[in-house]
Amino acid sequence: MSRISQMLPRHFGPYGGRYVPEMLVPALKELAQGYGQCKQDPQFQAQLTDLYHNYCGRPTPLYFADKLTKTLGGCKIYLKLEGLAHTGAHKINNALAQALLALRLGKTKIIAETGAGQHGLASATAAARCGLQCTVFMGEVDIRRQYPNVYAMKLLGAEVIPVTDGTKTLKDAVNATLKYWIQHLEDTHYILGSALGPFPFPVIVRDFQSIIGREVRTQILEREKRLPNHLVACVGGGSNAMGLFHPFLHESGIRFHGAEAGGRGPKIGDHAARFTNTPKVGIAQGYKSYFLQNDHGQLQDTHSVSAGLDYAGVGPELAWLYDQQLVEFSAITDVQALEAFTILTRLEGIIPALESAHAVARAMELAPTLPQDEIMVVNISGRGDKDIFITARELDRNNWMAFLKREVEDDQ
Ligand SMILES: Cc1ncc(COP(=O)(O)O)c(C=O)c1O
Repeated sequence: MSRISQMLPRHFGPYGGRYVPEMLVPALKELAQGYGQCKQDPQFQAQLTDLYHNYCGRPTPLYFADKLTKTLGGCKIYLKLEGLAHTGAHKINNALAQALLALRLGKTKIIAETGAGQHGLASATAAARCGLQCTVFMGEVDIRRQYPNVYAMKLLGAEVIPVTDGTKTLKDAVNATLKYWIQHLEDTHYILGSALGPFPFPVIVRDFQSIIGREVRTQILEREKRLPNHLVACVGGGSNAMGLFHPFLHESGIRFHGAEAGGRGPKIGDHAARFTNTPKVGIAQGYKSYFLQNDHGQLQDTHSVSAGLDYAGVGPELAWLYDQQLVEFSAITDVQALEAFTILTRLEGIIPALESAHAVARAMELAPTLPQDEIMVVNISGRGDKDIFITARELDRNNWMAFLKREVEDDQ
């Protein structure tokens, strides 16, 4: 392996690594090498910066949530509005950058897994923009609950393949994508959507998502002339959290907060809280980290109202930061997330993705306990349009069902 790719961290403490079938090793080495070169290539960086600015709408705003701050009566709350990036979430930061990387590697096709559909949508969009063929693997359950994104992916020319194994959610989609990749290595790049999987994916995704934290640093220094005291993000695989946290990790005096999916409660199968409920270390899907698993190392079923947090594993760097007590995790239930969703919508006129609503709920727990001169930044990783089939059912059930019925009847 070249010196460039050797400089990328392969492990975070004992976590991370590359636990894959032999056949996949050359492709991962090629990827590490290609990424290492792009990282140092001013032309690649300039092309990416131009697209972030002119295509994705970056920098996304850092908004002072005046009414939320006053209502909670504690620290000042700023919201980083990643939902205003093209395609409605942070996922485009990574998907677009990896699509450019795929072109550099001479690939003509990309594949992606998706849970909430945001990464699938971002990948389909990046593929359309870069002239790449795109196939997205998505669990059947997620296809049903995130149909607006499935429709958009198809509009963009992507093929969406339903995954019917296991719980038919994100972990099964990751397995299916890895399996497909092994058979199509020659012309295909796998755009992995979170800061997890075998080396070098965790570091690639983290680096591409770090644009979030770098922008926050500039924006908060402009507004407040100092760094924040608290950073809050929801944690599925960990890409928006690592993107926000990473540029601040070397600073002292900042607390990092991760909100996991507490689902319906602490019973196994009812949540996706890897850290909050007796964390267990294991190896799955190509990397070592904390996983929700049984005594035989089988990944457990998970549940969350938000498809993007409904995953049994978590990125290896977050696992290491947890061990060092650098990131504090807490489980936010479905009910709390829906409540935070409604409050943010009504108070600030911002409809968050259900994933991001978990971060808002955590902020709502913390803020009242903190002094008024402290500053908190909450990452609103996405906007809530995609969740209409869930939130309307939960919050306006009768009208929504009557509307759906009318639509079907009108069509017949
Ligand atoms: C809007 C949004 N936020 C957060 C996540 C969770 O992913 P990650 O932890 O990688 O940021 C997802 C995943 O699909 C998402 O769509």
